[in-house]
Amino acid sequence: MNIVVYSGKGGDGKTPIATNIALDKKFGVCTNEHFHVFDGFINEDNLIAIKANEPFPNIPSEFNVVFDLAGSITENSVSITSALTQADLVIVPVSNEVKALTAGIGTIKEILRFTNNILIVATKLEKGRKELFGDDWYQSREYLNVKNQVHHYAGDLPVIPLKYSKVFNTIFEQEMSIRQIMNSDPLAKHNFKQVAEQFDEIYKHIEGVKNDAKQRIAKSA
Ligand SMILES: Nc1ncnc2c1ncn2[C@@H]1O[C@H](COP(=O)(O)OP(=O)(O)OP(=O)(O)O)[C@@H](O)[C@H]1O
Ligand SMILES: [Mg+2]
Repeated sequence: MNIVVYSGKGGDGKTPIATNIALDKKFGVCTNEHFHVFDGFINEDNLIAIKANEPFPNIPSEFNVVFDLAGSITENSVSITSALTQADLVIVPVSNEVKALTAGIGTIKEILRFTNNILIVATKLEKGRKELFGDDWYQSREYLNVKNQVHHYAGDLPVIPLKYSKVFNTIFEQEMSIRQIMNSDPLAKHNFKQVAEQFDEIYKHIEGVKNDAKQRIAKSA
């Protein structure tokens, strides 16, 4: 299965999302980032790093890889389009900020030329001062704004909430996934519980896409 994490906007967390998936699901990593962070903690047998102006090789369908793509389709088209053409699922992180929403919606429209299998992650979500919604981030104002904007301008795509959390830096400091960090430290287990559960939602979605693909293959056989 090939998962692509992509957005034309930098800084909304493509790399930590791709890394967490790779570590938890034991997926290989493909990156077009010049200064990528994977050397050392992603085994070199499981890492394909290319230049932004090169195409990725075709990954055989029995391999599981996650692509962490930086850059824009117009400027780095070869690496990005060569990943999108082989994607089973494209994950697009979008934060609730005007520039991020504009870039996110533009990105989604570009991706729709390649696939409809898109999952939006509404990310860096923060609770407003007077907001009371318990743990259900599907009710948060920021989540609802990202979801409504995406649905209005780009269509009825699934949107999963991901809250703002310091753990996104800890992933690289400790070279561990959020679950691995939690298992190594009882305090982290408490602090990062919600964000880990939000990642479980992403994993559920990935499993769903994987099962759909299997059924399609079985039907066509
Ligand atoms: N949900 C989140 N909560 C808090 N911080 C986050 C969250 N997601 C990402 N970050 C932080 O935002 C910063 C920018 O993220 P990062 O550079 O990994 O994004 P990117 O999409 O990979 O960007 P680029 O296109 O430059 O590769 C990092 O410090 C990361 O830890
Ligand atoms: Mg990155």
